[in-house]
Amino acid sequence: MIWESNASLAPYNTFGIDAKAERLVHLESEADVAAYALHPDGLAKQTLLLSGGSNMLLCADVPGTTARIAWTGRTVVRETEDHVWLEVAAGESWHETVRFSVQAHWGGLQNLSLIPGLVGAAPVQNIGAYGVELADSFDSLRFFDWTRQEIRTMDAADCGFGYRDSVFKKQLKGKGVILSVTFRLTKRDHRFQTSYGAIQDALASTGVAPSVESISDAVMAIRQSKLPDPKVLGNSGSFFKNPALPAQEVTALAELHPGLPQYPQADGTIKVAAGWLIEHAGWKGKRVGNVGMHTQQALVLVNYGGASGPELWEHAQRVQASVFEQFGIQLEPEVNLIG
Ligand code: EPU
Repeated sequence: MIWESNASLAPYNTFGIDAKAERLVHLESEADVAAYALHPDGLAKQTLLLSGGSNMLLCADVPGTTARIAWTGRTVVRETEDHVWLEVAAGESWHETVRFSVQAHWGGLQNLSLIPGLVGAAPVQNIGAYGVELADSFDSLRFFDWTRQEIRTMDAADCGFGYRDSVFKKQLKGKGVILSVTFRLTKRDHRFQTSYGAIQDALASTGVAPSVESISDAVMAIRQSKLPDPKVLGNSGSFFKNPALPAQEVTALAELHPGLPQYPQADGTIKVAAGWLIEHAGWKGKRVGNVGMHTQQALVLVNYGGASGPELWEHAQRVQASVFEQFGIQLEPEVNLIG
């Protein structure tokens, strides 16, 4: 367990914001987590947990202790003729884990290729892309409860997965840390989700049949064409959620704006594309100082270099107010604001 004081968090958040942690502890094993939970300062309960930093906006320096999830490892814990159960430590890279499974020809995670971040954070917001969510391949996870100092195994029902949502954003927020996630992946009879237009186009253009590998490659190509690489341009993917609205409200809105993309949900609401709203409010590709909404995907807030957290948040609020003014829709951040 390594401790640092007044440490820059710039290498640990994908916006590249240079906020400082008063103390930063690197937890490199599950034993470190257990030891840290017993630390005399009793810090674990108030700790900011730092995972891949790909879904957070640091608006200020972080007082107290920030704990970095840095334990790794991947193990096949069970196997049948049809399935494999892969347990992955919270500190493993999400994308490397997806590619590891793709290279083994195991199905389930291929649509989720190239999502930044670490495995332990994936269940927190039930990451999703191209018609697939983490919940679809999820078996269980192990959660270390700070107060009880014990490990709990949780299945999908315990996790309460929803759209970019789970129990870890609600009742269990701040109560502990996810140690590992077990995925149930298919070894044969894979179920492919290729209904997303761009995936079909990519497969058609190469003439390759859908497979675990070809879908992963197609998703990577699509993401690379639309979404900025955080190593090149600081960002945290979609900054806002796609709002789910009552059907009546969307029908009225679509009369005024026939191009508005709509996604009917099982609960009767209709999700509308926040990226479209932001683009049509005039913010796509518009740069204000060091910040702006991306040229290829208006839902992505980018740091063109040197922007502070407050500067990025100010811009997000500007965009939010403008969308509200033009469409009467209140966008909600998908990204966690810290400080
Ligand atoms: N659109 C525009 N202008 C834009 C951006 C999008 O008109 O600038 C339109 C598109 O033409 C399309 C619709 O909005 O008709 C949806 O766009 P897209 O397919 O790019 O997906 P999204 O709804 O903007 C969501 C996820 C992404 C995920 C993609 C693909 C959320 C908040 N975002 O974006 O997830 O990769 O679908 O499945 O649900 C993330 O969460 O960080 C993320 C990148």
